[in-house]
Amino acid sequence: MLIDTYGRVATDLRVSLTDRCNLRCTYCMPEEGLRWLAKPDLLTDDEIVRLIRIAVTELGVTEVRFTGGEPLLRPGLVGIVERCAALEPRPRMSLTTNGIGLKRTATALKAAGLDRVNVSLDTLRPDVFKTLTRRDRHQDVLDGMAAAREAGLTPVKVNAVLMPGLNEDEAPDLLAWAIEQGYELRFIEQMPLDAQHGWKRDGMITAGDILESLRTRFDLAPEGAGERGSAPAERWTVDGGPHTVGVIASVTRPFCRACDRTRLTADGQVRTCLFATEETDLRAALRSDAGDEAVAELWRKAMWGKKAGSGLDDPGFLQPDRPMSAIGG
Ligand code: 5AD
Ligand code: SF4
Repeated sequence: MLIDTYGRVATDLRVSLTDRCNLRCTYCMPEEGLRWLAKPDLLTDDEIVRLIRIAVTELGVTEVRFTGGEPLLRPGLVGIVERCAALEPRPRMSLTTNGIGLKRTATALKAAGLDRVNVSLDTLRPDVFKTLTRRDRHQDVLDGMAAAREAGLTPVKVNAVLMPGLNEDEAPDLLAWAIEQGYELRFIEQMPLDAQHGWKRDGMITAGDILESLRTRFDLAPEGAGERGSAPAERWTVDGGPHTVGVIASVTRPFCRACDRTRLTADGQVRTCLFATEETDLRAALRSDAGDEAVAELWRKAMWGKKAGSGLDDPGFLQPDRPMSAIGG
């Protein structure tokens, strides 16, 4: 098991497959992109599958989420999913993607054994999309989501981040649209994970703001009497149900006490948290011929040292060196 000193057990593994992306979302990357990891520094497909096998068979991981950067840019993705689907016990598998290219790959991913996708979409307006992501790909994202739905990668969850002055007024429109399309919408509070370090707490749109805005058009009731377990999203039933909307209040209502995550970067570093300032190098172990048990032990040790919280509320909070795209969302 991956247990820490606070008694939390990590069963949910986020694996970043690449730090590259074909969008430049302002809350994540600078306009010119970043210095990408060099190919030899990335884990190979074999190394990724081996680490996931160790996590699933020796460390109690039951849920694997592939992220990036943009994971669809990883050439070996379908093969990786296929090999992970053959593991015993078979982990549940999902993909967090910006949706570009999903139109082409959704069917193959489903056939390989992927269960679900989370697609990021912050706006219904193509011009705002272009400002927010610095790329004119709105329609590709919508097409990708529809393809995922047709392929049965369901429920298709939609992640939306609201940015002041850009799309902050879009919460009700996004919800109406998601319900009509049969997608499950979740809003994520903007976190200080942008490469430019431009995040300001004062300006951010909070969960409170989002709920207030939604309530101008919908009737929201908390789902499951305030119990959210390890799920970061607090869910609300919309107009009496069955549709729901989630709000992930990472900043204003952190869920660290129930966190069940462990993370692996594309270059083979274990991170205990998005906001961790330390990493544990599993790639070096793999490449010096460590056995499965030695790798598992390194991973256990890393997680044992997981901090109580993100530290976002500490006056001395330090943003991690790596941005979201290099950690994996
Ligand atoms: N704050 C909140 N969410 C972010 N994402 C990327 N950067 C940030 C940030 N700074 C979101 C993406 C995607 C998911 C992986 O994380 O929009 O949905
Ligand atoms: Fe790419 Fe996701 Fe970062 Fe946007 S948030 S630039 S889609 S990695």
